[in-house]
Amino acid sequence: MGTVSLFMESDVASRLATYLSEQFGLNSDVYEMLVRIAGAEEDILDVARKIERSHASRHVYRMLMVDESVKDVNEVVDHIVQRCDDAVIRVQGYPRSTEEMLVSLLENRVQLSPKQFDRVVNVVRMENRYHVGVFPAATFYRRNPINANLVSGAYHKLREALLRFGVPVSDTWQVLDVGAAPGGWSQYLSRRVKLVVAVDPGTMRVRADNIVHIRDRAERALSTLAQYAPFDMVVCDVNDDPRRVATTLVQVADLVRPGGHMIMTAKLVYRSERGVKFLIKEATRALAQAYTGLDTKWLLANSRRERCIHGVRG
Ligand SMILES: C[S@@+](CC[C@H](N)C(=O)[O-])C[C@H]1O[C@@H](n2cnc3c(N)ncnc32)[C@H](O)[C@@H]1O
Repeated sequence: MGTVSLFMESDVASRLATYLSEQFGLNSDVYEMLVRIAGAEEDILDVARKIERSHASRHVYRMLMVDESVKDVNEVVDHIVQRCDDAVIRVQGYPRSTEEMLVSLLENRVQLSPKQFDRVVNVVRMENRYHVGVFPAATFYRRNPINANLVSGAYHKLREALLRFGVPVSDTWQVLDVGAAPGGWSQYLSRRVKLVVAVDPGTMRVRADNIVHIRDRAERALSTLAQYAPFDMVVCDVNDDPRRVATTLVQVADLVRPGGHMIMTAKLVYRSERGVKFLIKEATRALAQAYTGLDTKWLLANSRRERCIHGVRG
C-alpha cells in the first residue's frame, strides 16, 4: 500500500500544524490553507478520528484523503471514473474552483450527490499537480457542531489554554476569574472546579451554585476577593492593553497560592510582528514580578491579534 496523505483545510493552517505536533507528535507541512500529514491509510484514519474529537475540529473545515498524484485534469477524471463503478459520489476539492471544475467534468460520467453518497472523491490541486483519492463514505469528515448552549465562544479558548499549557485542573480548586462577564470562562470552570469567584462590573449571563459574582473592578475588590483566598488559579480575559492587564494580575497575585496557575489573554493592538513581540515582552516583564515559568502560545481559539500567557505563582 502506498502513502496516503490527509489534507486539512483550515484558516489557521500553521497554528493547526503546531497543535498537531504538540498534541499528537505528528509531522506535517503547510501549504496555503492546507496542512498535510502523510502515512499509511490506517494511520491517517486514526489521525482523522483524533482530530474529529479534538479542539482542532472547530478549525478544520474539510479533511481530504488522497493516495494518487497526477498532472493533468483529464487523468483525474479517468482515475475517478475507473474507481467509482456504479457508486454515488460526493466530490470535495481544494481550492473550490477545482471542485467546481470537477463537478462539471464528472456530471455526465458518474452519479454525483453531496448528501446521499457511497464514496467521497477528494482532489487537491497543489503546485501544478492534482492529488486524488476515492474513499468509502465513512471517511467523510463532518465538523463538530458549534454548541448553542454556551454563553460565549470564549469557553473554548480557556478549555484549549488549560490543555495546551498542561494545567492540572482539579475539582477541589477555587479559581478567580478576572473580567468574567458575560461568563464563558466561568461557565467552563464551574463544570471543572469547586468554586469560581467571578469579578466584573458587567452582567454575568451564567448562573451556577458554585459561581460567586463580585460586581466590581478587580483592583477595587481586593479585600472582598481576599475572603475567598487562597485561589489555585487566576484567569483573566480582559480586553485591555496587556501591560495594564498584567499589572492587575500582579495586584491579585497575593490571593493565589504559591504554585497556583495564572492564565491571561493578551489582546494586541499592534499589527506588526515586532509590535506584537514588544507587547508580549512588556506584559511578561510585568507578570514576572509575581509569576514564574511564563510561556506564550497562539492558540487555535485565539483571534489573529490575541495570544494566551501562562505562568505559575512564585
Ligand atoms: C472580553 S470580556 C471577558 C469575556 C469572558 N472571559 C467570557 O468568557 O465570557 C472582558 C470583560 O472584562 C471586564 N473588565 C475589564 N477591566 C476589568 C477589571 N479591571 N476588573 C474586572 N473586570 C474587568 C469587562 O467588564 C468585560 O466584561
